[in-house]
Amino acid sequence: MKKPLVAANWKMNKTHTEFNEFINQFNEELSKNKNYQFNTEVVICPPYLYLAEMTKMFEAKNINVGSQNISEHSEGAYTGEISASMLKSINVKYCIIGHSERRKYFNETNEQLAKKIDIALKNDLIPIFCCGETFDERQADKQFAVVDEQLKESLFHLPANMIQKCVIAYEPVWAIGTGLTASSSQAQEMHAFIRDLITNKYNFKTSSEIRILYGGSCNSKNAKELFCQNDIDGGLIGGASLKHDEFIKILLANNE
Ligand code: PGA
Repeated sequence: MKKPLVAANWKMNKTHTEFNEFINQFNEELSKNKNYQFNTEVVICPPYLYLAEMTKMFEAKNINVGSQNISEHSEGAYTGEISASMLKSINVKYCIIGHSERRKYFNETNEQLAKKIDIALKNDLIPIFCCGETFDERQADKQFAVVDEQLKESLFHLPANMIQKCVIAYEPVWAIGTGLTASSSQAQEMHAFIRDLITNKYNFKTSSEIRILYGGSCNSKNAKELFCQNDIDGGLIGGASLKHDEFIKILLANNE
């Protein structure tokens, strides 16, 4: 039975002092409420700088740690890059791949993302693969074609037993950081479309086991309605994950 998943994407936020503040407040809140049993798997993706510290801090807790990106290369002369094997060696479990900000500001292509997916899986990291259309693409009614192409070019080369390990995050670009959320029916419609694509390419068993998260201005007020849609298996949370209390409320959305 697949468990829902809620992942925090901190992006390029928090100094080291702010990082410590979050961890202290988050841990304090969790220990105050010993019976905080989240019906969801929890992942936090801080900037690279804090990953090693965070994996140690959460070792004994049920919180997983993820990176926001990885290099498509395995090692060598790639100044400034971080490899999948390095991440694995400090017990990072997940990595976000293909976030729209990486696509937009760092020109990451579907082809390059396919390489990142391969190297992540080879190193036993679980990719959280992001897809989603821009505002203009939705206005032109191209959202399904765009997502279809992103999945086909970056994920569908995988055999069923490998794609099954991946998490997919549908993040309409127009909803990211804008306060505009896709309505639960718009999100559900796209999630069902993605699941159908996987069923057609692979089979029903594979598609029903893959977790498809929603991302884009998800917060404690709208999380419950989004997460209870048939094909939404949790969320990828940006801005609302930066405050420990707001993030905990989102983690509890699956408990109600
Ligand atoms: P947001 O970001 O929740 O701030 O909209 C989501 C994301 O970019 O993953």
